[in-house]
Amino acid sequence: MEIVFSSEKLNKVAEIISRYPEGRQKSALLPVLHMAQEEFGGWLDVPVMDYVASLLSIEPIEVYEVASFYTMYNLKPVGKYVFEVCQTGPCMLNGSDNIIAYIKEKLGIGPGETTADGLFTLKPAECLGACGYAPMMQLGKHYREHLTKDKVDAIIEECRAKSN
Ligand code: FES
Repeated sequence: MEIVFSSEKLNKVAEIISRYPEGRQKSALLPVLHMAQEEFGGWLDVPVMDYVASLLSIEPIEVYEVASFYTMYNLKPVGKYVFEVCQTGPCMLNGSDNIIAYIKEKLGIGPGETTADGLFTLKPAECLGACGYAPMMQLGKHYREHLTKDKVDAIIEECRAKSN
């Protein structure tokens, strides 16, 4: 895969950089990493991070540091659907352990693992700011809230149906 943004995406990168004072283009790193992750297969391989560094005229190590700090960036391949299940206090008190255990049992994968068909990755997460809807998870750009085993079943079926 060639690691180059389309001209449309490059314009978007330029627009993001322009939001910050001159010489502060590193401030654009988080959104540009999101774009790169979405564009280049759902994870940030080293050449992808190097590309982002070159776009922002910063050192690759500055990108590695940020990408490895935030859990929203994937540093290894993930499935098409990533179940980021919150496991922080309020979600835990409302049964996130049971939800994680159920997903493990149902899909046969542990935390950080991906199903053999490449569809699902289980990724325990820290508080996602939706504690009032616990237990919850993030799936793509959406939150799935008040999770139960039935809801997990429905979400899995929905994902399978979408990928058929
Ligand atoms: Fe789960 Fe805050 S503790 S969203």
